Amino acid sequence: MFPPKEVIGLDIGNYAVKIVCFSEDKKTVKLRDWGYIPLDIKADALPDEKKAIISKEIKTYLKKKSIQARYTAAAVSGNAVIVRYVKLPKLSRKELAQTINVEAEPFIPFDIKDVNLTYSILNDFSEDGEPKMNTVLVAAKREAVQDKIDIIEGAGLDPLIIDVDSFALETLYSRLAPKGESNSVLMLNIGQKVTNISIIAQGVTRVVRDIFVAGATFDKAIAKALKSDTAAADAAKRAHPLLVSEEDKAAAIENFDREGIAVSKAAAGVLRDLYTEVSRSIDFYLSQGVDHSISKIFVSGGMANLGNITKFLSAEFKVPVEVVNPMAFLSEQPKNIPRDVLPALAVAAGLALRRLKDWEE
Ligand SMILES: Nc1ncnc2c1ncn2[C@@H]1O[C@H](COP(=O)(O)OP(=O)(O)OP(=O)(O)O)[C@@H](O)[C@H]1O
Ligand SMILES: [Mg+2]
Repeated sequence: MFPPKEVIGLDIGNYAVKIVCFSEDKKTVKLRDWGYIPLDIKADALPDEKKAIISKEIKTYLKKKSIQARYTAAAVSGNAVIVRYVKLPKLSRKELAQTINVEAEPFIPFDIKDVNLTYSILNDFSEDGEPKMNTVLVAAKREAVQDKIDIIEGAGLDPLIIDVDSFALETLYSRLAPKGESNSVLMLNIGQKVTNISIIAQGVTRVVRDIFVAGATFDKAIAKALKSDTAAADAAKRAHPLLVSEEDKAAAIENFDREGIAVSKAAAGVLRDLYTEVSRSIDFYLSQGVDHSISKIFVSGGMANLGNITKFLSAEFKVPVEVVNPMAFLSEQPKNIPRDVLPALAVAAGLALRRLKDWEE
């Protein structure tokens, strides 16, 4: 089988569908196409209706842009996936393939029959004289994987890979990171329902956790503060930056910017909850006796656009915080992607790159 020449990275989110397609010519990667399709699906739509609407949106978009690629990489996240780093007795690859379900069972909180299980061996070591190995187990609920496959097929595409959001971010980071990266960084992908937290140490993901503090949580908090609905809250969150410095706060008070102050307060409250959750993951990582603390935080997802979010987070975490530009590694920078769409394309870019990476192996 020849590897497909072009693969569509398709990030089917709760807020928007993101599309990225790269092409590679003589080792130079170029952006072939990208897409951002905001979804407006009624809350009471049935699951099958929802899937059909998303498929149709994707199909229409691909047709409009005359995108020919058919092979697709998508991902699951949130409640649908469990990632566990576990020590297992040293087994050959063949032995592990045969016994993986039994070995994994105690670590997976779902019925093993309901999940697609994959794993990867990280390294071998010895403990109390016994040969062991560090592995990462990934269990994705079959139903969630099938939902993505249904949407892809419904759009007339061919599902090639179903990945995990956080691993797509690792793939992207491997392109963005300086060569021979020796630091540990934290990726924070804040979407609509889910925030993916991952810690990448020397290029390898060591902690993966998805939490449910994300865009919708901001909308709810802002709606409560403004006594508005969530649609108005979404608009307010786009219009008002977080007030971080004393000068920002003083200026808002002087200008009687009541709405701005209320939005900032509500958003800061949610960010503090997010901070607590992220700190837990950092503490967990540090408790494993690693010698590198987190040197930088990269924020992506649509919520990376919240005004002053990097300023706010770097003041809380006391490390530099940067918004991800998933195209930064390209030798030629695309000019037509709106600034606020860029960070939302991170997962889709990682998915599209994963394929390029796999060809090289
Ligand atoms: N310019 C902006 N300013 C503020 N917030 C924004 C902006 N653009 C997008 N957002 C917010 O980003 C969130 C959507 O982000 P994203 O597209 O990463 O989510 P998603 O991938 O569809 O969701 P999920 O991963 O949870 O399924 C929404 O809450 C949206 O309001
Ligand atoms: Mg997302």
